[in-house]
Amino acid sequence: MNKHEFSGLFLSGTDTGVGKTMVTAGIAAALRDDGEDIGVWKPVQSGALANDPDSDAYRLKQLSGVEDSCTEIAPLVFPAPLTPLLAAEAAGKSLTMDEVVDAGRLLQKRHSALLVEGAGGLAVPLTRTEMMAHLAARLRLPLLLVARAGLGTINHTLLSIWYARELGIEVAGVILNETSPEVSADESVKTNARMIERYGQVPVWGTFPWIEKNLHQQKLVSLVRERIDLEEIRSCIRSQKKTGEMSR
Ligand SMILES: Nc1ncnc2c1ncn2[C@@H]1O[C@H](COP(=O)(O)OP(=O)(O)OP(=O)(O)O)[C@@H](O)[C@H]1O
Ligand SMILES: [Mg+2]
Repeated sequence: MNKHEFSGLFLSGTDTGVGKTMVTAGIAAALRDDGEDIGVWKPVQSGALANDPDSDAYRLKQLSGVEDSCTEIAPLVFPAPLTPLLAAEAAGKSLTMDEVVDAGRLLQKRHSALLVEGAGGLAVPLTRTEMMAHLAARLRLPLLLVARAGLGTINHTLLSIWYARELGIEVAGVILNETSPEVSADESVKTNARMIERYGQVPVWGTFPWIEKNLHQQKLVSLVRERIDLEEIRSCIRSQKKTGEMSR
């Protein structure tokens, strides 16, 4: 595989339910609003069918505004609410890394860069021998780690960063997500970013705000612009494209 076949960012989380879909879609919506041709890809989705309104594919499509269909956004979908390896096995399938990567080529050809949402966290079984982190490594995409904004996040975030680095993944940045409207009152929120930057040697690109249900897309975009360092994200994506173009 060409070293730079895929460009963009791989978004993983410190856990399932930390807000990867919200953050992926919010960043994609804001970059697209600035005229960037960004697609969204959920390589393996378990626990919901692609067109289900609660599914990641559906929410990624609705919030980001991409025109790709839900089945293009999430080409490998398994209904069991289990880790991808087991959800696939429950459907009588044994996933291979080549097949997961192949299924994303269409979207990568169509867009100039992709935001790729992993399932669960990094140490989540994907194939018989590989974890979700191995997919990020195989795609050679820098990692954007989504973590909870409140108490407990330093431990989960640092463990994820160190595991990713052990596999040779470039950890580009962290976004802290407000997973509830109350979390901003948590005393630890003021200091978590500083601790993660110091001990993880990684930039925190902002705190993603709690988003009201049915918020208008333009309002989502303006909240993301206010709270997230989009310039850093853009330059991370652009620097890969330049290296790729130069090496061709
Ligand atoms: N910033 C936020 N504002 C409002 N709701 C949020 C926010 N972050 C997360 N949520 C809600 O919390 C739930 C979990 O978030 P989300 O689905 O984005 O997590 P995830 O990390 O993508 O989970 P999964 O591992 O299942 O892919 C969803 O119902 C989502 O709408
Ligand atoms: Mg998700």
